[in-house]
Amino acid sequence: MRYQVYSFVYNAILNCARPTLSINIFPRKVLVTDPSMESVLSRHTSETSLANVIFLIGRRVFDLSDATINAIGSYDPRPVHVGEFSSASNARALVAQVSNAANQRLQSQPDVQETELGPWLFKLTSSSVASALWGPESPFVVDDEFQTAFMEISGSQMTLLRPFSKYTAQAAHKARALIISKLKSFHFNNRDSRLRQIAHRINAVALSDTEWESNKDYFNVELLTSLGLLVTPSSMAVWMIRHLLMRPDLLERVVKEARNPDILDAEGRIDVARIRESFPFLAACLYETLRLHMTAIPRLAKTDLDIAVPNSQPIHLKSGDLIYLAMSSFNKDTATWGSDAGTFSPDKFLTNSGSLSASMVRKLRVFGVAGNLCPGRKVGFETILFVVANVLRDFDIENPRGEDVTYPEPRTEDGFGIGFERCANEITVRLRRV
Ligand code: HEM
Repeated sequence: MRYQVYSFVYNAILNCARPTLSINIFPRKVLVTDPSMESVLSRHTSETSLANVIFLIGRRVFDLSDATINAIGSYDPRPVHVGEFSSASNARALVAQVSNAANQRLQSQPDVQETELGPWLFKLTSSSVASALWGPESPFVVDDEFQTAFMEISGSQMTLLRPFSKYTAQAAHKARALIISKLKSFHFNNRDSRLRQIAHRINAVALSDTEWESNKDYFNVELLTSLGLLVTPSSMAVWMIRHLLMRPDLLERVVKEARNPDILDAEGRIDVARIRESFPFLAACLYETLRLHMTAIPRLAKTDLDIAVPNSQPIHLKSGDLIYLAMSSFNKDTATWGSDAGTFSPDKFLTNSGSLSASMVRKLRVFGVAGNLCPGRKVGFETILFVVANVLRDFDIENPRGEDVTYPEPRTEDGFGIGFERCANEITVRLRRV
C-alpha cells in the first residue's frame, strides 16, 4: 500500500501542471512543486534536506538503527561532500582515477562478445566510479557477483518498503544481504587501506560514532552512499547508448567524434581533462539524455515552515513533511524545448558553429533544483562522456539478430524512482573491438 502511494505521488509529480500540488498522506503532507516555485524554495535550503529523507526509508530500505538515522539527520553533509567532490583539484583527481579504471576494464574485454548492453555498461561505469571512491581492490570493482547484486538492489531498493518485505521483496533482501556481507569481509581484509578512501571519509557512521568500527550500520551506510553516487551516472550512460542505437544517424556522428585521431593525447588516449571541448556532440547527447530522464528530487522539512505561493495563501509545512521538486517539468516544458520536447534530439544543445550552447544548458535542471546542486556533477558528467566515448571508439556495436533488425524502443521502468528513470527493457549486442 505504501509503495503504491509513493508510486501515485511519483506519477503525480511527473505530470504536475500547477505551481504546487499538496497531497495529504496521513500523517504527512507531500508538496509537489513546479518550476515557478524554484526561487521561493531556494530560500529554504537550510530548512529542507535531501539527506533527511532517510527518516522515511532508513529503517526499512537500509536496515539502519534509529541512532544512525538520527545521526544522519542531525548534521549537514553538504560541506564534506563539496570538499571531496566539487573542489577543482579533487574533481580532476577523481575523474583521472575513474578514467584509469574504465580504461583498464575496457582493455580486459574480449575482442568479440555478445552481452546484454545494460548490465555490461552499468557495471563498467559504476565500477569505474567506485574504484575512485572505494579503491581498485573493492568488491564494486573486482567481484562480478557483488556487482550483479548491486545492480539488482539499485533497481529494487524501494520494494523493501513493501509490507512483509521478507516475502514480497525477496530479490532486494537477498541482494542487500550479499552486499553487506561482502563489504564486511572486504573491510576486514583491507582494514588500513579503507581508512584512506573517500567512501570512508564521507561515511555518516564514521563521522558520528567513535565506535564506528563495531557499528553494523557502517556497511548499511556504505550501501546507501553507493546507491546515491554510482547509480545515476551508470543509468544515464545506459540510456544514452540506447537512444543512440535507435538513431543510426546520430550514432554515426558520435562515433566519428570518438574516433577522431586529433583529439587523442600523446599516449594515444582520450584526454579526459579536455573531454567536454573535444566531444561537443557527445556532450549534447548526454545533456539530452539527462533532460529526458532526470525526474524529481525529494526533500524533507527539518522544521515547521511557511512556503510562499505566488498569488495564493502560503503553504504551512510541519517538520517531517515532504517536498518534491519536479525537475522534469522544467526539462520537458514545450514552451522552452518545443513541441518535440519528449523526443531525443541533441542538436538543440549545439550552437550553429557546433560548440555546446551555454544558454540552452542553463535551462536544464538535471543536477538539482532550488538552491541545491549535485557536488559530483563534474565527476559524473565527465565520467559518462569518458566511458561512452571509449566504448564507441574501441568497439563496434552490432545487432546479433541482424544488422537490418531494429532494436526495441527503450522503455522506462514502472514504479518509484528517486531522481531519475531507469531503462526497463534489455537488448543483447555484439561488441567487436575495432
Ligand atoms: C550524471 C551524473 C549525476 C547526476 C545527474 C546527479 C544528480 C544529482 C541530483 C539531481 C542531486 C540532488 C540535488 C538536489 O538536492 O537538488 C544530487 C545529489 C548529490 N550528488 Fe549527484 N549526480 C550525478 C553524479 C554524482 C556523482 C558521480 C557523485 C559523487 C562522486 C555525486 C554526488 C552527489 C551527492 C553527494 C549528492 C547529495 C548532495 C546533498 O546532500 O545535498 N553525484 N546529484
